[in-house]
Amino acid sequence: MVNYKDLGLVNTRAMFKKAIEGGYAIPAFNFNNMEQLQAIIKASSELKSPVILQVSKGARNYANPTLLRYMAQGAVEYAKELGCAHPEIVLHLDHGDSYELCKNCIDLGFSSVMIDGSSLPYDENVALTRKVVEYAHQYDVTVEGELGVLAGVEDEVQAEESHYTKPEEVIDFTSKTGVDSLAISIGTSHGAYKFKPEQCTRDPKTGKLVPPPLAFDVLDAIMKQLPGFPIVLHGSSSVPQEYVDIINANGGKLPDAVGIPEEQLRLASKSAVCKINIDSDSRLAFTAAVRKVFADKPGEFDPRKYCGPARDLMEELYKHKITDVLGSDGKLAQC
Ligand code: G3H
Ligand code: 13P
Ligand code: ZN
Repeated sequence: MVNYKDLGLVNTRAMFKKAIEGGYAIPAFNFNNMEQLQAIIKASSELKSPVILQVSKGARNYANPTLLRYMAQGAVEYAKELGCAHPEIVLHLDHGDSYELCKNCIDLGFSSVMIDGSSLPYDENVALTRKVVEYAHQYDVTVEGELGVLAGVEDEVQAEESHYTKPEEVIDFTSKTGVDSLAISIGTSHGAYKFKPEQCTRDPKTGKLVPPPLAFDVLDAIMKQLPGFPIVLHGSSSVPQEYVDIINANGGKLPDAVGIPEEQLRLASKSAVCKINIDSDSRLAFTAAVRKVFADKPGEFDPRKYCGPARDLMEELYKHKITDVLGSDGKLAQC
């Protein structure tokens, strides 16, 4: 049993409170490999932003859970080396799907876990979430629960259709479970194809898809029920068209990929939405950079020569998200 406090990590409680009061959101970036982690830490440290490092079940299977935890521990030291004397780094389990998985992460040194019971019947979601909270809170680990279903298909997260969170359920859910934050469904979804072309309109000038707006009325109704309660948005990649274009121009095939416009995320960040999850944009940046190197230099076979540019592009992306979308730059309690 390792306690996250001994690793220099923090939980989400104080950072969410400060983010809601300050009208910004904390970036929650997924990582699966060293280059992503380096880019996240470099961007957040240089910009003095708190940050949430997210590990999914798929990431654990890909990289090994113990190794990921040591990487996060190393990330704290790296942030200090980069000049952040008091980094605020959360190690968070993304989309935990069982009590055992959440417990294992807590025992390994995670400072925050998500238990995603959103696909279960309501009462089962409450019971499972409550059980995780009871274990986590013994160690001061914070817990994210979810109500409502996001559409999207990925390795570990699958749903055909989205169902918005019902505002009339949120008080009952948060009081019965004791969760520290609530992930909601208001029209975001996982992956690079967030909307079907028939749900969008097309920009007549560019021919690109324009997605429907998020359900801010549902968010407002939830915030009315739970004033000041930390709200989380999953599925918040914007699917930058410049990356999609680079990928498609260099042998890729991502037709009609579409994400959430950044202006809408900026707006959400000013509300009680205090954690915004971004994974796909980083995957797109990585892939765009690698495809470009392979197309320009077919003889290249040193992984540092294509993973290096991928890392640089991800760092640029994370800096842009922190500064221009979430507004968390300069928000460390102590520098
Ligand atoms: O919300 C899901 C994250 O993007 C993680 O995806 O399960 O493919 O690692 P993954
Ligand atoms: P994206 O697929 O939009 O990046 O969402 C990531 C996410 O919600 C991780 O939990
Ligand atoms: Zn998610």
